[in-house]
Amino acid sequence: MRNLGRMAFGGDYNPEQWPRETWADDLRLMRRAGVTMMTVGVFSWALLEPREDDYDFGWLDDVLDGLHGAGIAIDLATATASPPPWLTTAHPEILPVTADGTRLWPGGRQSWCPSSDVFRAHAVRLVDRMATRYGDHPGLALWHVGNEFGAHNAHCYCDVSAAAFRGWLRERYGRLTALNDAWGTAFWSQRYSDWEQILPPRQAPAIGNPTQALDFRRFSSDALLAHYRAERDVLRRHTPDVPVTTNFMAMWAQKDLDYWSWASEVDIVTNDHYLRAGDEDAHVELALSADISRGLAGGDTWLLMEHSTSAVNWQPRNVAKQPGEMLRNSMQHVARGSDGAMFFQWRASRAGAEKYHSALVPHAGEDTSTFREVCDLGAALAALAPLVGAAVQADVALVFDWQAWWACDAPAHPTVDLGYYDTVLAVYTACWHAGVTVDVVAPGAPLTDYDVVLVPTLHLVTDDAATVIAERVAAGATALITCFSGIVDEHDHVRLGGYPGAFRELVGVVVEEFHPLRRAEAVTLDDGSRARVWTERVRLRGAEAVAHFTDGPVPQGPAVTRAGHGEGSAWYLATQLDQPHLDGLVQRVLDEAGVQPVLPRDGTAPPAGVEAVRRVALDGSVYCVVINHTEQAVPLNVDGHDLLREEDVRAGDALAAGAVMVVRT
Ligand code: GLA
Repeated sequence: MRNLGRMAFGGDYNPEQWPRETWADDLRLMRRAGVTMMTVGVFSWALLEPREDDYDFGWLDDVLDGLHGAGIAIDLATATASPPPWLTTAHPEILPVTADGTRLWPGGRQSWCPSSDVFRAHAVRLVDRMATRYGDHPGLALWHVGNEFGAHNAHCYCDVSAAAFRGWLRERYGRLTALNDAWGTAFWSQRYSDWEQILPPRQAPAIGNPTQALDFRRFSSDALLAHYRAERDVLRRHTPDVPVTTNFMAMWAQKDLDYWSWASEVDIVTNDHYLRAGDEDAHVELALSADISRGLAGGDTWLLMEHSTSAVNWQPRNVAKQPGEMLRNSMQHVARGSDGAMFFQWRASRAGAEKYHSALVPHAGEDTSTFREVCDLGAALAALAPLVGAAVQADVALVFDWQAWWACDAPAHPTVDLGYYDTVLAVYTACWHAGVTVDVVAPGAPLTDYDVVLVPTLHLVTDDAATVIAERVAAGATALITCFSGIVDEHDHVRLGGYPGAFRELVGVVVEEFHPLRRAEAVTLDDGSRARVWTERVRLRGAEAVAHFTDGPVPQGPAVTRAGHGEGSAWYLATQLDQPHLDGLVQRVLDEAGVQPVLPRDGTAPPAGVEAVRRVALDGSVYCVVINHTEQAVPLNVDGHDLLREEDVRAGDALAAGAVMVVRT
């Protein structure tokens, strides 16, 4: 994508939904908006191959030539996201089956079983035709395999999937006794005496085997990855020099793929993000998603493939964006390493299930504040070309894991109120409030670059990954580990001898029992903090208590502890603090490690609601992206040249309410 030489700006373009007269108007408006890249063909299979092995590429030829003629790069989809009706009619066995045995019908999208050889053969044949026809197209910048793998069809429980699952399990365990041990099948008479007895975790009268469920999640992520690889390998054969991606959904709404195992399979990480409309601080979750994307890219740049100009249509109440919000959202992604801002979709559909989804060109047309803001965004992104390829600077690591998410949020746990992603988000939010940039890292990834390591509710962790954290602390880092971390191993077996299992020695405490709270119940700590959801009976084993519960199930018991470990220290939080109090705790941890906010404080706290991130360009120039999410102008402690307004700024100058600056410092 660096070859693009500018920020990617555009979105999903579905001209097949419109008469040809509209296409010329599309190109006119794209030029006006400063569009640089378009994603084409995502859901076009039924039009490109209207009958089996009978193709109609003429219309797509014209679309691609038109885009290229307008100077717009093409992110060309393989068009395999959704099978056409002729395929599901001829081969209903490719339709996915739910856990209760219901075979889903076609009529929506992505109705295919990830393990289906029949689907794969048809998809791969189309990809081969696409690559043959368009591999040499001068506008082709990027291949886009499928779309949002795992959306709608992450788990299929059909007999084909069952056989594939058994194959995957044989590879993983080799011997049936190893599987029986890993799954703990001595429990509830579940012992298997033959591989053929093993099924996906289909709907059963009682709670199923948790390790079976965990392995099925791993298998399902791998099954989709195998399909992605099959398409990608066709593309690589035809066009070894064209990068290949597929758009991830690393965010609150999607936990079904283990993206750590996907990340190295794409040539550039691309991610889709949509705001959680019910969340007034949805822009903080956006920042987390962007930082996860950069983590998946191994710290390299990545690309926001989809977000929305305004409301989506798939949440219960779809909140439209306020003026300026689209620019701020886009700049948050750019600040955190995205080399562009792409959208779903170019022109709002007239028909179909997404007709109330916002777009770059709304139903009301070009004379709208949305389209004017789109043009402004195009101009802003054009001014940010010097940031392309620039690395993001961060001082803090946050250990994040999809497998821990699956294990933490499994049924039959002490409480339903301890959700993994929101717990991660709370700790992340504290850093966001502190003005500190976070790198999201995989368990087991090297931590040598970080003075602070945050480990929120890492319920499932391997011994090796726990050791990496302990070794980094021993070498001088400060860690914060929060409750329900380290409890189970990779088989979802509880570590004995007291919680938090894998981290017990590091944090110097032994937890004897969990005491989750009733709904709406709160407890207080003797430092004045308030907490909810979770308490536990903590015994000190080398740590000191920093704060105790004053009430609740374990009055006088330690709630926050700190232990020296080698050159560093490990803090442990045995409850869920309310956000302001969690902010205070995380600030203490940051202070102990000497981590400074991005904007120098000069004695005054960074203004709440102002986000600042630094990117360092390939030529060594440093850019500070500053975003004011508040409704007041705020003075900033930054000197340099603002690329967006093309003017110099000096410390003390104000950033207007809702505005953005990108300052070369
Ligand atoms: C996803 C899909 C798009 C569209 C949008 C709507 O990101 O990739 O096709 O459905 O959601 O928000």
